[in-house]
Amino acid sequence: MQLLFLLMLNQNDIKQKLGIYAADFIKQDMLVGLGTGTTVYFLLKELGKRKHQGLNFTAVCTSSQTQNILVEKGINYVSINEVSSLQLTIDGADEADVNGNLIKGGGGALLQEKIVAAASKQLIIIVDEKKDVQTLGAFPLPVEVVTFGWKQVQQKIESNYNIKALLRKKDDSVFITDHKHYILDCLFNSIENPSQLNNELHLIPGVVETGLFINMATTIIIGFSNGDIKERKLTR
Ligand code: 5RP
Repeated sequence: MQLLFLLMLNQNDIKQKLGIYAADFIKQDMLVGLGTGTTVYFLLKELGKRKHQGLNFTAVCTSSQTQNILVEKGINYVSINEVSSLQLTIDGADEADVNGNLIKGGGGALLQEKIVAAASKQLIIIVDEKKDVQTLGAFPLPVEVVTFGWKQVQQKIESNYNIKALLRKKDDSVFITDHKHYILDCLFNSIENPSQLNNELHLIPGVVETGLFINMATTIIIGFSNGDIKERKLTR
């Protein structure tokens, strides 16, 4: 019993293990997208180390947060507008379902993350076991909206789906994305048809992007508290 307790990893340890594991997918001279968040942070840290050991690669960032870390680690990056496509992107997620559909945007970077993911031949997602779910929706779905008329979007989402759509705040102020938009965190609880919901939300004027990543992931890498790591391969 005591031995079992000693072997259990906490969530931070799992994230670190995933970050180091995922770094192996980045090979010499690759052009890669790098995600955002606390799990990806460990990947960036590991890549910083490998860069100093001679691993040469170029990244496209999914947020100003990631860009700042790349500057700190001395990793080369270019704008997405300078590339035609990316070999692969590695990112985290807030939830991943059995079909590989995702909720992303807990860190507020969903817009750039989706653009970068769409430009990538492969999208590798690193999550701990708690984020591996049967049905999406327990995690509030982030929807990025323009600031003009955001209340109209909120009202529409709340009345169309009979749910709450909360304006995201950070430190008592409204959270502003890298692209100067707001985020509505939508408490769906359970999303039966993520693809349909994504399409419907996009039809509401003022919606910029949703945190539903449908049929985009090619591999989900799941980290477990017992130290195991499993890969789920998906077809697009
Ligand atoms: C940021 C994201 C992140 O990938 C997601 O929120 C997971 O973050 P973390 O690894 O910190 O749990 O989508 O917009």
